[in-house]
Amino acid sequence: MLTIILSSSQKVMQAWVSPTLSPSMLPAAVILLAFVIWPIYRLAFSPTRKLPGPWYTKLASFFMQYHAFKGTKRLWIHNLHLKYGNVVRLAPHEASFASAAAVAEIYTSGGGYAKTDLYSLFKQEGHTNLFTALDKKDHNEKKRRFADLYSNTSILGSCVLDSIRDRAETFTSACSEIASADIYLYLHCYALDCVTAALFHPYGTQSIEGGSDKEMVRCLSYHDSRRAMVLQHYHPWILYFYNMFFRDVSKGGPLIHNYAWTSMRKGNHSDFTLAARLLEYPKIGLSNMVAECLDHIGAGIDTTGDTLCFLMWELSQPYNMKRMERLSKELRTTKADGRLENLPYLSAVIQEALRLWAPGTLPLPRYVPNGGRVIDGYFLQAKVIVSCQSYTLHRFDSTAFEDPDTFLPERWLEDEGSTERQRLFFAFGSGARTCIGKYLALAEMRALLYSVYSQFRTRPADDMHASMKLSDQFITSRPEGMCCKLAFERLDS
Ligand code: HEM
Repeated sequence: MLTIILSSSQKVMQAWVSPTLSPSMLPAAVILLAFVIWPIYRLAFSPTRKLPGPWYTKLASFFMQYHAFKGTKRLWIHNLHLKYGNVVRLAPHEASFASAAAVAEIYTSGGGYAKTDLYSLFKQEGHTNLFTALDKKDHNEKKRRFADLYSNTSILGSCVLDSIRDRAETFTSACSEIASADIYLYLHCYALDCVTAALFHPYGTQSIEGGSDKEMVRCLSYHDSRRAMVLQHYHPWILYFYNMFFRDVSKGGPLIHNYAWTSMRKGNHSDFTLAARLLEYPKIGLSNMVAECLDHIGAGIDTTGDTLCFLMWELSQPYNMKRMERLSKELRTTKADGRLENLPYLSAVIQEALRLWAPGTLPLPRYVPNGGRVIDGYFLQAKVIVSCQSYTLHRFDSTAFEDPDTFLPERWLEDEGSTERQRLFFAFGSGARTCIGKYLALAEMRALLYSVYSQFRTRPADDMHASMKLSDQFITSRPEGMCCKLAFERLDS
């Protein structure tokens, strides 16, 4: 075999140096290049070759793309970390990390790791917004305009909180009136109503009640867009053919766009809203303002809705009865308008849900800046893509997270190991690009859990058969069956 390769490569080399390349040599040259020279080059010179990982990931990013397409990327990466340790090569130009030190270096250090162009897929109506801004200066400028609206003090001090409480009560009434409530749907309605109150009050949606607002939730939260997005990112030309044979359900649609445009144009928004703030910068242009709001709608629904859905499902299991009782007891000692953020068990329950199921489970990719950087002891040259994924950070270090796949809110109440657990906590990302909606989301979760568990206990409904496994989309995960039926039972007074 070796003799054949050597003799054919000799002939090809002779042909290259000869001014008269015989056409019959062309196929051999192509085969040699594709199957011998290129792989050898990749094995010897791939920028991530010195990192641990399967040898074939030095050759091509095909394996990673395949798992992204199939929806198994999160578990593929996680299993590679379990096998190879906290540093893993994913592709010739891509690596994953699973340590608090790597999070600090990549996301928090201010060392200039820019978001990759994968984020451009989330542009709204062709406009760059806060989430998709790749340039640091552009991002800073956008963030300065409205970051204060989303601070903890602003959220807790503004009328957004009244809207959230009102929506939480409406959610609880709607679900407790029926024998089997699909909380997947109602929680996404709740999240939409809360976020649109923060964006457009008094023109927030009332989707829990139904009508066209509820239809918007169907367009936002029942999509099937992973495969199309993977193709669009890696091979847009294949997407063209893919779309000829397959019809994936994309996220969004005209209903949401019309709602955002109409609400933006109305004017007279409450002072605390994003719309009112953006209108103070007329130079941005209305379409850019709408794009920013659409982005916050997209970012604020599945995230909060799915985390709450997984959490309520878990609390409803018979083996968590004691935990639900403990939570109810704590909530019932507090007034509806009391300071829920100071309740230790409620905070622990929410943080544990975010550890296990915060939907941003997949890698958040960044480019290594000019000059290269050392991460976890490995030098990586500029433009290599590096990332951490919360799914692994929240499970990999079994000293920080003992019994990592089990729902154990109590771990967040222990002092021992608390600093390391917080350093590894990555549900909202980290550093300058951390989630701007974090305090809004936390306020929503607290209000909803208060409203439900201070009055009711929940259990799986008799007709609940859907899968609650984590199922991956492009960068997030959600309940596989997109349905979660619970029965609400009133607590004794
Ligand atoms: C449980 C709820 C939520 C989770 C787990 C979550 C998670 C995240 C994560 C991980 C990021 C960082 C992405 C990255 O670095 O690549 C992020 C960014 C962002 N999130 Fe959230 N999010 C949640 C709720 C919300 C809500 C309610 C809003 C609505 C305002 C929102 C708006 C945003 C925006 C605009 C960004 C981009 C921030 C920037 O780049 O400066 N999120 N979120």
